[in-house]
Amino acid sequence: MILPDMLEAKKRTDKKSKFLYDEYKIDENMKIGKNKKYYIKTYGCQMNEHDSENLSAILEDMLYERTDDMMDADIILLNTCAIRENAHNKVFGMLGRIKHLKESKKDIIVGVCGCMAQEEVVASELKKKCKWVDIVFGTHNIHRLPNLIMEAIKNKKQEMEVFSIEGDIIENIPYKRENKYKAYVNIMYGCDKFCTYCIVPYTRGKQRSRKKEDIINEVKKLKDDGVMEITLLGQNVNAYGKDLYDDYGMENLLEDVAKTSVPRIKFVTSHPWDFTDKMIDIIAKYDNIMPFIHLPVQSGSNKILKLMGRRYTKEEYLKLFNKIKDKIKNVSITTDIIVGFPSEEESDFNETLDLVNTCKFDLAYTFIYSPRVGTPAAKLEDKSSMEEKSERLDKLNELINKYAKESNEKLKDKIVPVLIEGVSEKDNNMFMGYTDTNKLVNIKADKKYIGKIIDVKITEVKTWSLNGEVKVLEKSV
Ligand code: SAH
Ligand code: SF4
Ligand code: F3S
Repeated sequence: MILPDMLEAKKRTDKKSKFLYDEYKIDENMKIGKNKKYYIKTYGCQMNEHDSENLSAILEDMLYERTDDMMDADIILLNTCAIRENAHNKVFGMLGRIKHLKESKKDIIVGVCGCMAQEEVVASELKKKCKWVDIVFGTHNIHRLPNLIMEAIKNKKQEMEVFSIEGDIIENIPYKRENKYKAYVNIMYGCDKFCTYCIVPYTRGKQRSRKKEDIINEVKKLKDDGVMEITLLGQNVNAYGKDLYDDYGMENLLEDVAKTSVPRIKFVTSHPWDFTDKMIDIIAKYDNIMPFIHLPVQSGSNKILKLMGRRYTKEEYLKLFNKIKDKIKNVSITTDIIVGFPSEEESDFNETLDLVNTCKFDLAYTFIYSPRVGTPAAKLEDKSSMEEKSERLDKLNELINKYAKESNEKLKDKIVPVLIEGVSEKDNNMFMGYTDTNKLVNIKADKKYIGKIIDVKITEVKTWSLNGEVKVLEKSV
């Protein structure tokens, strides 16, 4: 049994990460999933979604088949997120349901993995109160899933293996893409920014960039496989390369990925601190880099930004924001905002509203601050009540929605390129896709357009989506 340790997880040394290419192996005796099914529930960010794609592929290597019905599964994995308390509550709620299921179906294997598993409090709760959970593993040992399953079956007791390490890079873990036309590509793991409220640097280890060759080769393969859109993934992608190269950074990587001529490229998430002018120039230069940037600001108050350890001021953020808007034609910029950070007063919150009024974001993800055990902010005194925080969130969301609708309205009657992904979930006669600025469009189209980027005329505008119709003949992509 290996339990998580937040103090260990916090450590950063000069040790270089290792690149391991042969760490993932499936032996013949591990192929035990024939005629059995797996179900994975994923919480959290795109990084976790991509990890679940790894988990799926590993289980399929073991010959398990996927099911979307948990009741039908022989193995259930919860890939969890630790970013806010409500994510916790959801997972423990779900575990309650699974416990019930396991009472009548004793042989099912239940696993908890992901960022919550990296938390001491969670691991000890699982150990004490949920002994019936068969396997618990963290973000550093996804490739060990087959071994953990085999051991749990053999030993008939809970297998807990959570490493609290800076982390290495494990290459060649297979993944099963959720989307035929879009793919995630990890460019780096972990985070060294240590924003004071955030648990990610503890759950994901130190910043480790993948080698540029490994990334480019993966992108080329995906392109050959018909993938139209690549999302480069990392907690802080703009810092790509800093831990690995002296003279190769995100701007170089973006350029090299653009040169593969994969039709669309985007990247998440950008920390404003590492966003260079060169990067802006590269995004502006290449048509296949989408004019879409997620640039979390978190707060409009310098006092709060400082307490958050964000390393920029409101003025610096605005300078960068304006530079991006000036240089990248029709760019859409989205953000994340936290309200109710300890010691946020009405005047600080009003500064956040002012900033939103200035930036008029295309979209924003807004959160009430949630204290995370082990992070520095959790020790700060927090005087404002939950009621006050909720009121602030409502007020902020109202403003965000207003600007989201306004930015969509600018597209009314315009013709925009859309990657058609498939049939719309809500209406089977409609198709859905995203613009190059990452806006959702429901389209009157034909199934022959699925998987293609076509010109669409926007006919109707809503807060969260657009409606449109195919206008011009398909582009030669
Ligand atoms: N690496 C990304 C963010 C990952 S977490 C970045 O730095 O931009 C996604 C968002 O969750 C953050 O941008 C932040 O707005 C929010 N978040 C993180 N920790 C939080 C906490 N303790 N309480 C509330 N929101 C939080
Ligand atoms: Fe968390 Fe900050 Fe790292 Fe983002 S940059 S993952 S908010 S510590
Ligand atoms: Fe959540 Fe971990 Fe992502 S905490 S947001 S799943 S990196």
